Amino acid sequence: MFRVGIVGASGYTGGELLRILSTHPDVEVTIATSREFSGKPISYVHVNLRKHYTNLKFSNVSLEEILSKSDIVFMNTPPGVSHKLTPKLLENGLKVIDLSPDFRLKNLEEFKLWYGFEHESPDLVSKAVYGLPELHREEIRNADLVACPGCNATSTILALIPLVEEDIIDTLKIVVDVKVGSSEAGRKPNLGSHHPERANVMRPYNVEGHRHVVEVEQELSLISRKNVKVVFVPHAVGAIRGSLATCYSFPIEDSIDDNMLRKIYAKRYGKEPFIRIMGEGLYKYPDPSNVLGSNYADVKAVVQERSKSIVSMCAIDNLMKGSAGQAVQCMNIVLGFDEKRGLDFPPLKPI
Ligand SMILES: NC(=O)c1ccc[n+]([C@@H]2O[C@H](COP(=O)([O-])OP(=O)(O)OC[C@H]3O[C@@H](n4cnc5c(N)ncnc54)[C@H](OP(=O)(O)O)[C@@H]3O)[C@@H](O)[C@H]2O)c1
Repeated sequence: MFRVGIVGASGYTGGELLRILSTHPDVEVTIATSREFSGKPISYVHVNLRKHYTNLKFSNVSLEEILSKSDIVFMNTPPGVSHKLTPKLLENGLKVIDLSPDFRLKNLEEFKLWYGFEHESPDLVSKAVYGLPELHREEIRNADLVACPGCNATSTILALIPLVEEDIIDTLKIVVDVKVGSSEAGRKPNLGSHHPERANVMRPYNVEGHRHVVEVEQELSLISRKNVKVVFVPHAVGAIRGSLATCYSFPIEDSIDDNMLRKIYAKRYGKEPFIRIMGEGLYKYPDPSNVLGSNYADVKAVVQERSKSIVSMCAIDNLMKGSAGQAVQCMNIVLGFDEKRGLDFPPLKPI
C-alpha cells in the first residue's frame, strides 16, 4: 500500500482526488492539508465523502509531517506554491504529481509572464514530465515529478494530436474555442466567479491571451517538430463542470475527408484507455455532459467542406481528465499499476 499526501486538499481538485482515491485499492491517503480547515474532518468540507474519511482530518502544511507520512504527494495548490515545496519533497525521495502549473512550461521566462512568479527551481523544470499520458506515457513511467496539464490545455491538445502528428494541417493557423464550467476557477469565489455573476453566462475571457495557450503550443510543437501557433479563446459558461474544446484547422491537402479522419483518430486513440471517439446517432459530437464524473475524453473530427476546414472537438470533465482523474492516471503509471486502477467507472447520466 503506497501512502499518499495531498497538499491543498480542501479545494475542488483536492476533493476529487480524495473521492477517487477513497476506493483505489493500492493507495491510502495519509495526509491531506488545508491551512484554513486544519483540524477539521475531511467531510466538513467534502460532504460527499462522509463515512469514507471519518478518521482523516485536514492538517496544516508541515514539511516534516508530509515527509514522514507519504511516499507520493499531489500538489493541488494555486500557481507559485509548488515550485517552493516540491524540491524538498524530491530531495527526500518522494514522488510528486503536481496539478498546478509550476512545472508545466519548459521556458522559464513564461512563468513570470503568465503566472507572475520568478521560478525558484529552474533545474527541475527540465526534469519534470508533462502529465498527459497520451503523449508522454513512457517518460511518466520513470518520472519523479509529473506536471499535470491545465484542463483547457488537455481538451485542446487531445482534440488536435492526431492532426498534428499526421502532419495534415497548417500548424500556423489553428483556432481554438473552449467552453468551460465554473469549477475551473477553484473554490474561492471572486467578483467574476461568484454565483450571481457567473450563473447563465457565456462569457469570453482572456481574449488577448490565455495562459493555457503556452502549454498547448509547447506540446503540439514537440510532436509536430514545427512551429505551432494557436488562436485560443476560452469562454466561461454557466455549467459547473466540463471543458469543451472546438478546434478549427486547415488541411494542407484538399483530399482529406471524414472517412480519413475517422481512420486517423481510430489509429491514434484506439488503444487509449480513456479516449472515446464519437460515432453517429443522436449524440454524434463530444459534449462534456456525457463524460462528467469520469476520466473519459470524448473526441471527434469532421471536415467542413464549404470552408475547406477541419473541426476537431474534445469534451472532458475539467475536475477529472482535466485534473484529478488525469493525476491519478499518472500516479498509476508512475507506481506501475494498471492505468485504469481506481478510475474504471462510467460517467453520470443524465447530469
Ligand atoms: N479546478 C480545475 O478545474 C483545475 C484543473 C486543472 C488544474 N488546476 C490547478 O490545480 C490547482 C488547484 O486547483 P483547485 O481548483 O483545486 O483550487 P482551489 O479549489 O482554490 O484549492 C486550492 C487548495 O490549495 C490550498 N492552498 C492555497 N494556498 C496555499 C498555500 N500557499 N500553501 C498550501 N496550500 C495552499 C487551499 O487550502 P488552504 O488555503 O486552506 O491551505 C486549497 O485546498 C491550481 O493550480 C489550478 O490551476 C485546476
